[in-house]
Amino acid sequence: MASDDDMDSPIYEDSSQHELRYQIKVLVIGDTAVGKTSLMFQFCDKTYSPIFISTIGIDFKIRTIELDGKKIKLQIWDTAGQERFRTITTAYYRGAMGIMLVYDITNEKSFDNIRNWIRNIEEHASRDVEKMILGNKCDMNDKRQVSKEKGEQLAIEHGIKFMETSAKASINVEEAFFTLARDIKAKMDRKLDASSAPKGGGGQKLASNQNQPKKSWWKCAIL
Ligand code: GTP
Ligand code: MG
Repeated sequence: MASDDDMDSPIYEDSSQHELRYQIKVLVIGDTAVGKTSLMFQFCDKTYSPIFISTIGIDFKIRTIELDGKKIKLQIWDTAGQERFRTITTAYYRGAMGIMLVYDITNEKSFDNIRNWIRNIEEHASRDVEKMILGNKCDMNDKRQVSKEKGEQLAIEHGIKFMETSAKASINVEEAFFTLARDIKAKMDRKLDASSAPKGGGGQKLASNQNQPKKSWWKCAIL
């Protein structure tokens, strides 16, 4: 089980290196068995297992990536898709900067449920959370129940980016997480610029990595 200690402020200055560090928290949601855990393992460890061990509650992994020459610590929070864990997993929506909505292209029900997952986000996540829809298991074209066009259409309807992925064959997994991370970082940078623009003679400072309020993910970056 993950602890709250890992949820420090999203942008802070590394005092030894005198450079900005970013921490981005991404939640992965969707029906059970669509491949959420497998996507996280493929992205963080470059491993894949065909054995299905359904997630209990919530878990996370970290991978540090580089964007525009800046180090970004990506925390990937993997939620259980099973209904009985809904209360605990929903509690993690609020601190998420990005959410991956995953369905299985060989399971139409999991695609239909994406609308319900989006409703959940609207109810429980921060209003400016970045979202992306992933149609996973695209290596199983022979068992496909959801066309790529249907996935794209749903994404367009909601103004969300979309990709088909395969955790098994490692298709688009890097691309998906990097795209979401890049969009989140761009949003963080825009907010940082807006907040540090001089207002009435007094500039604002970046937060140090201590004693930050945790109300909204981006507000904590600014003192
Ligand atoms: P919950 O934890 O119950 O919510 O499920 P989950 O979404 O985490 O699913 P998980 O990653 O455990 O994967 C479910 C099953 O699908 C496992 O047997 C995986 O090996 C398999 N699987 C996951 N991704 C892929 C994929 O891209 N292609 C194929 N063919 N199988 C996959
Ligand atoms: Mg899982």
